[in-house]
Amino acid sequence: MKVFISGNIAPVGLKELEANNILVTQWKENRQISPEELIEACQGQDALISVGPNKINAGFLKACNHLKVIALHSVGYDNVDIAAAKALNIPIGNTPGVLSAATADTAFLLMLAVSRKAFYTHKKIIKGEWKNYEPSPELGIEVNGKTLGIFGLGKIGLEMARKCIGAYNMSVIYHNRSHNEEAEQVIGARYVSFEELLAQSDVLSIHTALTPETKDKFTLGVFKQMKPNSIFINTARGGIHNEKDLIKALKEKIIWGAGLDVTNPEPMDKNNPLLAMENVAVLPHIGSATEETRAAMAQIIVKNIVAGLKEEKLPFEVK
Ligand code: DGY
Repeated sequence: MKVFISGNIAPVGLKELEANNILVTQWKENRQISPEELIEACQGQDALISVGPNKINAGFLKACNHLKVIALHSVGYDNVDIAAAKALNIPIGNTPGVLSAATADTAFLLMLAVSRKAFYTHKKIIKGEWKNYEPSPELGIEVNGKTLGIFGLGKIGLEMARKCIGAYNMSVIYHNRSHNEEAEQVIGARYVSFEELLAQSDVLSIHTALTPETKDKFTLGVFKQMKPNSIFINTARGGIHNEKDLIKALKEKIIWGAGLDVTNPEPMDKNNPLLAMENVAVLPHIGSATEETRAAMAQIIVKNIVAGLKEEKLPFEVK
């Protein structure tokens, strides 16, 4: 059996594919494979491991309807046309659970980096602008005892909430389509309306999937309903906030700061005004990028591929 991998996965995944007698062809160039190249590369393959934001849309699926399984190197599946895959009987696997802690770490890191203007002040050292000790240069704000608002409280949001409670005794409020009973019972998270979430959060962290309902959800009108000293964190998908509106909200001090691991588009242009702002921290979509998590993701991917090739139910299938 043969699998095409459109990028890098952790070595343990490659070893396990080999142990299962699965022949690997891998995209080795230092750029994202194009849609045409992906279709071409999948000819003669039995399965695909999709690494990065490849569009697994109806066109791709039709051209590659011979694939027995597609395993995503992500928990997010916003770039897959699930209905089209179902219609063609191609199971789609993802990697839920194993990346929750690492992704929540990234949100927590951004929250602190923004609150203490860490990226901005670090850049000042590099630019030779650290001249003398000043007692009140660019002052940060503290998050201790403040309110954490979570938009989309699932596994990753729960991990973020736990960290914020443990480290800073923050109160947790959230807004979801439906109540998260576990979070309410285990950490005392309080369900609020979207409007209350905006009005009450000191830190508002996004942990929802990108869907037609959440696309462009955070516009200027929404930022205007947030507290002027609030911090907006997005480690989910860049398409959930409107970037121009976010820039305006920060410039006009409608909100205090923002931390982003996801942007729109990705990669972010190096001249993007967000990168020069004091109260902003941006990372290049490294949410789950730790050795431990990437190894765990690769192992799940292999399980999905092996099951799919045997025409068995995938252990982690997107429904
Ligand atoms: C995920 O797992 O969805 C990450 O954001 C990588 O895309």
